[in-house]
Amino acid sequence: MTGNNRELARALLARHASGEHGAAPAAADGARDTNGSATAATVHGAGAPRGVAHTSFRDHPGVLEAGQRFGRFDKWVNQVGLVNPYYLPHEGVSGAVTRMADRDVVNFSSFGYLDLAADPRVRQAAKDAIDRYGTSAAAVRIVAGELPLYRELEAEIARLYDTEAALVTASGYLTNAAAVGFLLGKRDLAVCDALIHHSVVSGTEWSRCKRVSFRHNDPESLEAILKMSRRSFDRAMVIIEGLYSMDGDVVRLPEIIEVARRYDCSIMIDEAHSFGTLGATGHGVRELFDLPGDAVDVWMGTLSKALGSVGGYLAGNRELVDGFKYVAGGLSMYTAAPAPSAIGAALAALEVLRDEPDRVTRLRHNSEYFHRRAEEYGFDIGASEDSPIIPVMTGADEPAVLAALAMLQRGFSVNAITHPVVPAGEARLRFFINCRHTEQHMDQALATLREVLDGLADTAGQQFTLAHEEQHS
Ligand SMILES: Cc1ncc(COP(=O)(O)O)c(C=O)c1O
Repeated sequence: MTGNNRELARALLARHASGEHGAAPAAADGARDTNGSATAATVHGAGAPRGVAHTSFRDHPGVLEAGQRFGRFDKWVNQVGLVNPYYLPHEGVSGAVTRMADRDVVNFSSFGYLDLAADPRVRQAAKDAIDRYGTSAAAVRIVAGELPLYRELEAEIARLYDTEAALVTASGYLTNAAAVGFLLGKRDLAVCDALIHHSVVSGTEWSRCKRVSFRHNDPESLEAILKMSRRSFDRAMVIIEGLYSMDGDVVRLPEIIEVARRYDCSIMIDEAHSFGTLGATGHGVRELFDLPGDAVDVWMGTLSKALGSVGGYLAGNRELVDGFKYVAGGLSMYTAAPAPSAIGAALAALEVLRDEPDRVTRLRHNSEYFHRRAEEYGFDIGASEDSPIIPVMTGADEPAVLAALAMLQRGFSVNAITHPVVPAGEARLRFFINCRHTEQHMDQALATLREVLDGLADTAGQQFTLAHEEQHS
């Protein structure tokens, strides 16, 4: 940059910073669309404020909300001497037990149901893949060539799903978003379970299709919607999950398939939480319900949960998978191939799963044990059905948040799930069970939770308002 240009840049920056462009922050509660983005009226509309805050997004409603909610929370937990559980570092593997904030913690927050991320064979396979292929594929597969590991994993996934083909991807979230975005268009209908994952919702927005929700896991509600709407659309796809991640209930798949097919609908199922946890050997809902591979058109899953890796996958007929591979953006096209270590780890995890089916048996035993004991302690565990996802319902948000903080303080990591992630009044502590949890871990956690929730209830109502919310509102 020449001296003159440098001077000019400084002068412009100074003008900008001094607000000569009329910087004024937008209201925190400015209009938002359903996806949490600022709407045109707040950002681009006539008279929208201009200036530093505006262009840097410091006045973006979502940015402001994050600062207000989480900044305030951080200040409050510090004031009262608690550990802030958000983005808390692990000092080791996030297994059944982990180390956080300088203490050993029994971990009920990890999706690693089968403890495969910690397994020495899975770790070694990841290291071997790095030694052979480096740390990154550093390219898009179609143009730069293929690692044999991808094909190996895809063949294994297709075999497990009894489909003609499969595709592995770098992200579970993006797999849903991009697959739905690719398959549906403006004249199509996505009929989603009311509790479908955010990644599918993103896909429907990407596709610009019409999205409607049927009552959670209710084939009759699905039928009512299809009866009314199916004829108005070209394609229709019913999108469901195998095991729902908030409630821990299993999809009523045979009945949903029956309704969907009667109304000429495609079916896509997200097995993020069901693969590795359901079915006699952990092979998911297909195994659980003893279904052929073509009972569902699009099988989707993630490598980041039971399989102890990261990435996603899709399985289906050959033409469909080729469509995903050669045309759909974000799956394999226009995005780098998955890291070799992630695929090496997932392949080894499937091998361990095959050789050690008792991991699934232990997971099931633990889940049943936790269910039984939770009920004995008088907890409401909602709709969870002997699955390793077990909510303990608290109703209001505040007791869930306070209980999660108190649990962490006493050596148990468990997520508080609050509105808007779940409907208002349905807050919960969500326990993920691991095959390596012991009965003692689970008993201690439940006994502690009983004490914590009773303690909160004993402090006569006021505890259900977060002190920091009151102080700052
Ligand atoms: C049901 C469901 N689908 C998709 C995803 C996204 O998968 P990933 O975390 O591997 O990107 C998640 C992640 O939490 C999930 O719970």
